[in-house]
Amino acid sequence: MTAPAPARTTVGIVGAGPAGLLLARLLHASGIDCVVLESRDRGYVEQRQRAGILEQGTVDVLRESGAAERLDREGLPHDGIELRFDGRAHRIDFPALTGGRRVWVYAQTEVVKDLVALQLADGAPLLFEAQVTAVEGAESAQPVLRYTHQGVERRLECDYVVGCDGFHGVVREAIPAGARQTFERSYPYSWLGILADVAPSSDELVYAHSPRGFALLSMRSPTVSRLYLQVPNGTDPADWSDERIWDELDARFALAAGDWKLARGPITAKSVLPMRSSVTEPMRHGRLFLAGDAAHIVPPTGAKGLNLAAADVTVLARAFTGLHRTGSTELLNSYSATCLNRVWRAEHFSYFMTSTLHTAPEQSPFDTRLQLSQLDRIAASPHAAAELAANYAGLPLV
Ligand code: FAD
Ligand code: PHB
Repeated sequence: MTAPAPARTTVGIVGAGPAGLLLARLLHASGIDCVVLESRDRGYVEQRQRAGILEQGTVDVLRESGAAERLDREGLPHDGIELRFDGRAHRIDFPALTGGRRVWVYAQTEVVKDLVALQLADGAPLLFEAQVTAVEGAESAQPVLRYTHQGVERRLECDYVVGCDGFHGVVREAIPAGARQTFERSYPYSWLGILADVAPSSDELVYAHSPRGFALLSMRSPTVSRLYLQVPNGTDPADWSDERIWDELDARFALAAGDWKLARGPITAKSVLPMRSSVTEPMRHGRLFLAGDAAHIVPPTGAKGLNLAAADVTVLARAFTGLHRTGSTELLNSYSATCLNRVWRAEHFSYFMTSTLHTAPEQSPFDTRLQLSQLDRIAASPHAAAELAANYAGLPLV
């Protein structure tokens, strides 16, 4: 379907990942005019294999935006995760430790498909293969997005621009270098991720610390498993045969009792993901706003990336709604500070999960003992477990 290409709008949204699409739905619900420009085609955006865990708050906002019909039918509610270390298994019970909060297994691909279908059915224009090449007038009252759509150069005048264009986006770069600051950390390992056509070997996610490195058992449905292995940076997935992957997963998930078996099945996808933490401050400059991965990324160990993106645009949609209804810019003015508070908590949690569960290349036996002591503490103390559960299941929005 070819959408019309408007010349002006209230909110110009760059990027149709979860952040841009959800923001468009929330603005639509408030009667605020917007346009979404996405450089890739619809099939690419809908198939991109990424996150799999939705926090309670993300599910709540998807419901509020009318995009949770299939999620409520097909999503798998999860009340806990398992930590596996030193050959032992320990369950973290989310509802018991958080006053009733839980998470859902529902893939990012499905969230995106649901949001795209709604937006194309009744929402504001969503243009695929529309690559934004420049943001002009970043400091003016009428920023302009320049983009190429179906080989034609176009311009979109906006009252506000929201960069939902991911880690390599153009909107962040349009903020003058002197007006922003980026805080970053890289990690000396990556994840090799696979999808396999086999029923998950556990009802809940398993996060495993082992002397051979980290492993994670996750899932996409009752018949599809998603599994990850810590691998060295620069790993080529072609160097990992299916048999080598399964053998390594077996070794890392092994329990001392020897009574646990990982079911194997055909591997349908293999990829390597590097890990990085990054935050750009502030998340607003004049009439430009940043949301989701455009402003911050986390290593995936805490399952926070998609959930942070959803939280940002929920706060931003409320701010635009406040402006629309009352003319007050108060919530827009506090957007960056409100989000960064939550972002830094998630950055810390993701760093904590990553550094506690992975084995660094130069790790000493002392470092390993510290990790095991921390994991023991979580297993033994309801207070320590409650802190993990509260962060994993998701902190309140504001
Ligand atoms: P994105 O999903 O990146 O969307 C940005 C969109 O902007 C893209 O569609 C892009 O094509 C578009 N765009 C970029 N530049 C332009 C331009 N100039 N013009 C127009 N459009 C543009 N999180 C987890 O919790 N668990 C995981 O297992 C996990 N795995 C991941 C694997 C990978 C490879 C990556 C990159 C991320 C992963 N994440 C994971 C993080 C999570 O997927 C992201 O946090 C989430 O996608 C953020 O959504 P977003 O909408 O902010 O950005
Ligand atoms: C996933 O299912 O892709 C997933 C789950 C939990 C994580 C990271 C990724 O911490």
